[in-house]
Formats: sequence, structure tokens, C-alpha cells
Amino acid sequence: MEHSLNPLTEKIIQEIQKQKDHRITFYHFMKMALYEPELGYYTKDRTKIGKTADFYTSSSVGPVFGKTIANTFLEMLPFCTDQRNYNILEMGGGNGRFARDVLTGIKEKNQKIYEKLTYYMIETSPYHQHLQKEYLKEHLEHVKWVNHLDEIPKPFQGVIFSNELVDSFPVHMVQMQDGKLKEIYVTWDDEKREFIEVLDQLSTQELAKYFQEQNITLKEGQIAEVNLDAIQWMETMARFLDKGYMITIDYGYPADELYASHRHNGTLMCYHRHVANENPYQNIGDQDITSHVNFSILMNTGEKLGLKTILFTTQSYFLLNSGILEYLQEIEVSQMGHRDLFHDEALKMNRAIRQLITPGEMGETFKVLVQKKNVPDHKFRFMTGIIEQYGLGW
Ligand SMILES: C[S@@+](CC[C@H](N)C(=O)[O-])C[C@H]1O[C@@H](n2cnc3c(N)ncnc32)[C@H](O)[C@@H]1O
Repeated sequence: MEHSLNPLTEKIIQEIQKQKDHRITFYHFMKMALYEPELGYYTKDRTKIGKTADFYTSSSVGPVFGKTIANTFLEMLPFCTDQRNYNILEMGGGNGRFARDVLTGIKEKNQKIYEKLTYYMIETSPYHQHLQKEYLKEHLEHVKWVNHLDEIPKPFQGVIFSNELVDSFPVHMVQMQDGKLKEIYVTWDDEKREFIEVLDQLSTQELAKYFQEQNITLKEGQIAEVNLDAIQWMETMARFLDKGYMITIDYGYPADELYASHRHNGTLMCYHRHVANENPYQNIGDQDITSHVNFSILMNTGEKLGLKTILFTTQSYFLLNSGILEYLQEIEVSQMGHRDLFHDEALKMNRAIRQLITPGEMGETFKVLVQKKNVPDHKFRFMTGIIEQYGLGW
């Protein structure tokens, strides 16, 4: 008996059959799997982030992530405007927990800035937009949801933030075969009733240019992802930001490390109910598909358009220098009046901080890129203490 296929799988098959060669690029497949209206993983009503879902993000580990970064925003905002108003733009805010923790943190620490603050959110997923409105009830006066950058008053002067946005952009997949760079396409095998991959010529010369410009040659047989949307996004953001900062957090590496020969099969990963797998052709629409970010290309693209890199380091260094450990002490003292590390709240906070900064957990694979435009040099708190500018030899 034939298994029935889910509506998204049916739609992808139809899309494949519409094409002259009966195949689509992996990029096209991933875009449909994640973002097809109402059916894609991110667009449909399904809880994705947190304990009962598919994956954790730093924001879902605990409020300490947002609260620590709120302090950085408080340091940065006065440099961005004439201080009559303040702006933050978050892109891909997921369920809105980060925004809530940031706004709560800013309100607690600096009522004056809070009162003059507009927190813009751009989120592709209607489901996540809905969750954001629920989570942000107590801050509604300060939050504006927009679907496009055009809806935000210009010139934009403020801070642009994203956490795990770029890794969720669809990517092209390429493989080196007989010394030539080829692209991975997806087709449907009606007999086996499964998607299969085929290698053929590149769908766009941008892919060859991407490797040439970065002076990277893949090894024979090596598979790699190319996130062209990330380049376009950085170009757009660099032009959009008139004055201020951009903080981009995600897992990834500089280009030479990302495309090193030991990563023979690339970095594509799927997440379904907290189990990682490498098969994007299963649980279609019910699992996340991600790939590691090439931070070199983000930095280089930004530099060309006036965005200067002021820090590229691990999440661990960034959060430690930003004072994350102070939150543990605040809880101990303010909620219990005395130090009792075995108290539940302290333990929960302790666990969250450990998860965020430990190299084996989120501390090292996650990187933090801070760029600036049209603002004076300033030594922020996150730039003090021990700093390792990751992989840049600085
Ligand atoms: C992996 S989730 C991260 C969510 C959140 N930042 C967090 O840390 O929990 C990626 C989010 O980015 C959104 N997204 C993807 N592409 C986007 C785009 N071009 N513009 C705005 N949001 C986007 C997705 O819908 C999803 O909510």
C-alpha cells in the first residue's frame, strides 16, 4: 500500500514536475520546506522553539541572555541618535522571548531610554508574529511590527539585532566533482517514492564567483552550502542602517574554517523534536533545516558598504565580558536576601548561564559579530577583559 504524502511534499513534487528538467535546486527545495505559505516549517502553526518543540535557542534557555544584551543596547543607543528617541530593530525574533527580556531589562535599568524606545520587529512567520504579540503584551506601546524595511521611518539610527536568523536562510548546495564545481538539484523518484539528489551545472555563476572571490577551492567530493541570501541581506542592512550598530549572533565560522576539507559533507543539519539528523528529505515541513554561517562573507560584504567590524568572537567571550555572571549574584541577593546557591531560581539561572557560555554547549559554536556605521570609536564593556577575536589573528 502506498503511503499518502503530506500536502507540502505534494506541492514540492508538483513544483519539480513543472520544471523543464523535472528538478529544482536544493535552494528552492529548502525554501519551500521552510517557508512555503501555511505549509512550510516556519510558516505553519507549530511550536518550534523550547523544551516541548524541536530546538533550543539562546533566548529560550532563560531571560539572562536577553537581559545581558539589554545592557549592551543601553550602552550603544546614546551613540545612535540625538537622544530624543531610540530605535532597535530585531529580525527573525522567533517567539518574542528575546524582545521581552530585552525590553524588561531596559525598563528595569533605564526608564528614560525605555520611554523613548521603539522596538521594531520583522518576522517572516505569521505563527511567530502571533506568538510575539502574546509574549510582548506588557511592552506593546514600544513595539512595532513591520513586514518590510520600507515601513520603518528613515534614516534608521539605532541597533539592528538578530539571533539565529541567517542560519535559517535557504542555501544552495554544491559539490566538487572531477575538479569542477557542480550544484545539487532535487528530483522525485516516483518508483521509490522519494526525493533524490542529482548533480549538474551551477544554476547561477554567483556560486563560482563566491568561491573564487574568497580564494576557496573545495576538495574532490567535498559538499558545501552557499548562503547567497545572507550576502544580499547584509548588503540590504548595510544600506538601511544610517547610523548605529548591528549585532549578529549565529553558529558558524570564518570561511577558511567553514570550508575546511574535514567538513567533507558540509554543515547542513535538521532538527526534529530535539534530535539532530542530516536528512532534509524526511519530516518535510516538520523539521528545521539549517546550515552554519560564513562570517567572513558577512564581514567583507558589510565593510564594502561602510559597516566596520568592531568585534567577532565567541558567544562565551561576548557574554562573559558583557557581565552575564552578575545576574547569578543579583538573583542570589535580591530574591533570597542571602546567598544560597541551592535555591531553585539560582540553580536554574546557573544552568542557563553555563549552557550559554560553556564551549561544549552554546558558548563556542555560536559567534557574535558586532559592526558599526557612522558612530565614533568607543570601547564598550563587551570589548574589555579577555577578548579573542575569533579566527582573525588580531
Ligand atoms: C531559528 S529561528 C530563531 C528565532 C529567535 N531569534 C530565537 O533566537 O529564538 C529563525 C527565525 O527567523 C525567521 N526568519 C527567517 N527568515 C527571515 C527573514 N528574511 N526576515 C525575518 N524573519 C525571518 C523565522 O521565521 C524564525 O522565526
